Amino acid sequence: MMTLEEMQALLKDSIPGKRYKHSVNVYETALKLAEVHGLPKEKIAVSALLHDCGREVASKDSVAKCQELGLPIDAIEMHQPILLHAKLGVYNAMHKYGVADQEILDGIMYHTTGIDGMSKLAKVVYLADMIEPGRDFPGVEELRKLARKDLDKAMLLAYSNTICYLLEGGLLIHPHCIRGYNELILAAKTK
Ligand SMILES: [Fe+2]
Ligand SMILES: [Fe+2]
Repeated sequence: MMTLEEMQALLKDSIPGKRYKHSVNVYETALKLAEVHGLPKEKIAVSALLHDCGREVASKDSVAKCQELGLPIDAIEMHQPILLHAKLGVYNAMHKYGVADQEILDGIMYHTTGIDGMSKLAKVVYLADMIEPGRDFPGVEELRKLARKDLDKAMLLAYSNTICYLLEGGLLIHPHCIRGYNELILAAKTK
């Protein structure tokens, strides 16, 4: 695996400036969350920094790119190919940045949809992506506060926001998102 500095330099050369700035913001936000929740920082740092490294492939080219690489595409990704940057990110993390750690790769894989059974690392990356300082949407402050207090409660709010947004826009909802949402609702009810 490269050093974090080498990864940072390579990422900067690979994705648009705005996306790179966002990646650094997510990295810094994730490290703060790791700090408040007493989590080890090394893997979180790599997963957060590289979470959008699949964005070097433009959304319009991502279906063709996944096909070329032999990466599976589900029906929802086919219709909303922006989702594919997560899979392409895992591919790049492995083959371009030399990441082999499954937990780091899963953080990248599930940062857009979430899923059930996520590690704390993956939750931190998912939430950091949503609440980094450059984000501005109704309710972001509440989500920022909650993320510092309770990762699962914050995940549940994030899923709810996302599902509402997708419903209102008449967009597809990825089953991984529903699985993540249901898991947390069930856990809250059986507590
Ligand atoms: Fe992303
Ligand atoms: Fe992102």
